[in-house]
Amino acid sequence: MNEPNEARASPSASRGSVSRRAALIGSAGAAVVGIAGIAAGIGVGSHEVPPAPGTVSSRQRFANKVVMITGGTSGIGRVAAIAFAREGAHVTLCGRREALGREVERGIGATGGTARYFRADVRVEADVQRFVEFTASQFGRLDVAFNNAGITRDGTMRKMSRVNWDQVLDTNLGGCFNMCKAAWEGMLARGFGRVVNIGSINGQAGQYGQVNYAAAKSGIHGFTKALAQEGAPKGITVNAIAPGYIDTDMVAAVPPEVLDKIKSRIPVGRLGKADEIARGVLFLVADDAGFVTGSTMSINGGQHMY
Ligand code: CAA
Repeated sequence: MNEPNEARASPSASRGSVSRRAALIGSAGAAVVGIAGIAAGIGVGSHEVPPAPGTVSSRQRFANKVVMITGGTSGIGRVAAIAFAREGAHVTLCGRREALGREVERGIGATGGTARYFRADVRVEADVQRFVEFTASQFGRLDVAFNNAGITRDGTMRKMSRVNWDQVLDTNLGGCFNMCKAAWEGMLARGFGRVVNIGSINGQAGQYGQVNYAAAKSGIHGFTKALAQEGAPKGITVNAIAPGYIDTDMVAAVPPEVLDKIKSRIPVGRLGKADEIARGVLFLVADDAGFVTGSTMSINGGQHMY
């Protein structure tokens, strides 16, 4: 099964000081992805999170915040896990590919960050419930749910099987429901929460050969706006990001001749990078974004202006 957006993490025994972290991560943050990803041959080299100009590596916007990421073993989820950890968050990651999850966990731990992997299939409600319980047992609560796990099963309607429809809907939309359901009571009880869901340009504009994926991602956008209304009076923000074509394993699976045509329609002239999505996620979770809820942030190189 193509699991382009999966990853995981957990808390390290000891957390380094800010200066130690800055020293470690400033030089080695990219290496976390490099070692973990390139060695595994999963093509994340171009998804590294470089230090932003100035100070990102020494900023601790998410110190002691607890962040859960579905599908954190690769792609956008993996890069986001590293980005959150380098800014002080305790991260838990779920995904079905344990080897990759452990790799992320070790890589983050090696730079003084805190991450724990938990094996869970987001389609299975009980798995996701256990993931939340695991997070609470490790860190005492959860502050952020980043619903990132997603798959594709592309094919025209003539070839689209019910199985491929169900797998994509159950993972991409059902997984988001399962996670929010499991996390919601805790967020309500504490009067604080941040939810970020990964939608898609193809949920906004549609895409030939993707009735399943487009339906699921369009559903994510509606889900986000509905849940945001429930969360707003309770201190919980709920937002979505609609990535365009990002240089991850998921997009690498698109036939080259098709991808060339798609690229030619991206005004910025290139695929996006996973860290360009991760930066959006971090923005939506940060204190600065407390007034942003129910929004969909399009990050697509100008391919679809919505
Ligand atoms: N526009 C018009 N016609 C198209 C077409 C397109 N984009 N793509 C294929 N066709 C035509 C073919 O030429 C063919 O025509 P004929 O029958 O006349 O020969 C017909 O459609 C059927 O073609 P196939 O038998 O090859 O169709 P298929 O069922 O095997 O599906 C496909 C092929 C899945 C659509 C393939 O073209 C493809 O992978 N397209 C890309 C889909 C895509 O963009 N996926 C995004 C994945 S990444 C992602 O989703 C992340 C994100 O959020 C952006």
